[in-house]
Amino acid sequence: MSELLRLQAVTVELGGARRPALTEVSLALSAGERLALVGANGSGKSTLLRVLLGVQAPVRGEVWRAGGLRAAMVFQHPHLLRASVLTNVALGPWLAGLRWAAACALGRQALLRVGLEALAERPARTLSGGQQQRLALARAWAQQPTLWLLDEPTANLDPRASLEVEALVQTFACEQGAARALVFSSHHLGQVARLATRVLYLHEGRVVVDAPVQAFFDRAWLQAHAPLAVDFVREVLP
Ligand SMILES: Nc1ncnc2c1ncn2[C@@H]1O[C@H](COP(=O)(O)OP(=O)(O)OP(=O)(O)O)[C@@H](O)[C@H]1O
Ligand SMILES: [Mg+2]
Repeated sequence: MSELLRLQAVTVELGGARRPALTEVSLALSAGERLALVGANGSGKSTLLRVLLGVQAPVRGEVWRAGGLRAAMVFQHPHLLRASVLTNVALGPWLAGLRWAAACALGRQALLRVGLEALAERPARTLSGGQQQRLALARAWAQQPTLWLLDEPTANLDPRASLEVEALVQTFACEQGAARALVFSSHHLGQVARLATRVLYLHEGRVVVDAPVQAFFDRAWLQAHAPLAVDFVREVLP
C-alpha cells in the first residue's frame, strides 16, 4: 500500500494551554486505511485532524505528505455560508479555479450523491442537522479528495440520520478501491467498529494505542498492551 502521509514526533502547542495539545505523535497512513481517532474530550483528536489537513503547524516534529495528496475535511461544527445549499457546495470548486457554471454542475452532482438534490436552492442554514452534515459531506466530495478527514461526523444526529451519514462515509471512503484513506474522530465506539480498520487512542495529546480494529476491541489484547484504554472501551467490550 502506498504511503499518503507520515507524522514524526509531532508536538502542537496552542496558545495559553497548560500542556501541548499533541505530544510527539508519530503516525504513518497508507491508502486504503480507515483510521478512527478516539479518546476523551480534549485528548487532541480535532487538533490531529487539523495537522493532517495541513492547517495546524507543529512546534516540533515532521509532517510528510505524498505529492498530489488532496485532503478534504468535514469539521466538528459545519461552517455553512448564509447562501443556498448549491452555492455552499459550488464555492470550493469555483475558488479552486472552475468556472461558476462548471462548479455548479459539480455541486449538483455532489448533492445528488448525498440525496440533497431537491434542496439545492434552499438557504443552507434552514437545513436540519442531518441534512447539514450531508451537505458538509457533499462539499468535501466536490473536492474529490484522496484523504477524507471527518471530525465527529455524526455528533448531534439522531440514530437514523447517523446511520445515513455513516453509509455515505463508507461509500465515499471506499470509492476508487484502495486509492483513498479515511481518518475520522468519533465518540461512538459502535461506529468505530463498523467503519474503521485501525484505531488510534489518544490520552492528553499522546498516542496510547495504535492498533488494528480487531485488537482494539479485544479485551485481553488491550489489557496487555494498553490497560489505560480498557476503561474507555469497557461499555462495548464483550
Ligand atoms: N484554540 C485553542 N487554544 C488553546 N487551546 C486549545 C485550542 N483548541 C483546543 N485547545 C486545547 O487542546 C487540547 C486538544 O483539543 P482538541 O479540540 O484537539 O480535543 P478533542 O479530542 O477534539 O476534544 P473533543 O472530543 O471535545 O472534540 C485540549 O486541551 C484543548 O483545551
Ligand atoms: Mg474535537
